[in-house]
Amino acid sequence: MVHIFHRMSALLIGAFILFHLLNHLCILGGVQQHIEFMETFRLFYRNIIAESILLLCVLFQVCSGVYFVWRRRGQRSGFLEKAQVISGLYLAYFFINHVGAVLFGRFVAELDTNIYYGIAGFHTDPFQLYFIPYYFFSVVALFVHLASAFNWLSRDLIQQALRTKLAYLIVFIGILMSTTLMLGFNGVFSDIVIPSEYSAIYE
Ligand code: HEM
Repeated sequence: MVHIFHRMSALLIGAFILFHLLNHLCILGGVQQHIEFMETFRLFYRNIIAESILLLCVLFQVCSGVYFVWRRRGQRSGFLEKAQVISGLYLAYFFINHVGAVLFGRFVAELDTNIYYGIAGFHTDPFQLYFIPYYFFSVVALFVHLASAFNWLSRDLIQQALRTKLAYLIVFIGILMSTTLMLGFNGVFSDIVIPSEYSAIYE
């Protein structure tokens, strides 16, 4: 039963993340494009009902994921099964920190938690040493987790050799997307100047 809810909640969070990552890819066209996409996207999730459901699903996903890891400890074999645990634990760590930081930014620092808030650390010495790997592995972990789930769920439908290749392709796409995003957030495709109220968080 918990498995079924874990998958249902993953679908809902996945729908949010799909648009969240598309939103982040807008950084290739500049900060303004990113902010415009986000303002439209916010019309769908920035309301008490949608956001409460999303955040409850995130909480449930973290708790149920950690419970699965503990319950099946020592029983996993093969690269993709072990990668599922490691990526899942990283996602749990990331979710708690990331959502916590967004809520802190909104309700304590009273900032608009737009992309400037998300990436101010990329542009402030020495915080990029933490934030670049922190975000890079969040996207990679997401795709690794997806690849492991795909490998498991398609086990009766696709031959193993092809399944493994497709799973590695998903991981490769994740690494490519994450690298592109990190370059974009660092201002490689267009100039990014962080407003002082956002860089002040790190002073
Ligand atoms: C790649 C780097 C990422 C950056 C720079 C980033 C940045 C942000 C920002 C700025 C917000 C606030 C949005 C708003 O105020 O409307 C946010 C919210 C959120 N992000 Fe990310 N994000 C990243 C990756 C991810 C990933 C990989 C996940 C999931 C695995 C994720 C999950 C979420 C969730 C659940 C929220 C909370 C939505 C809310 O309650 O408003 N993010 N992110």
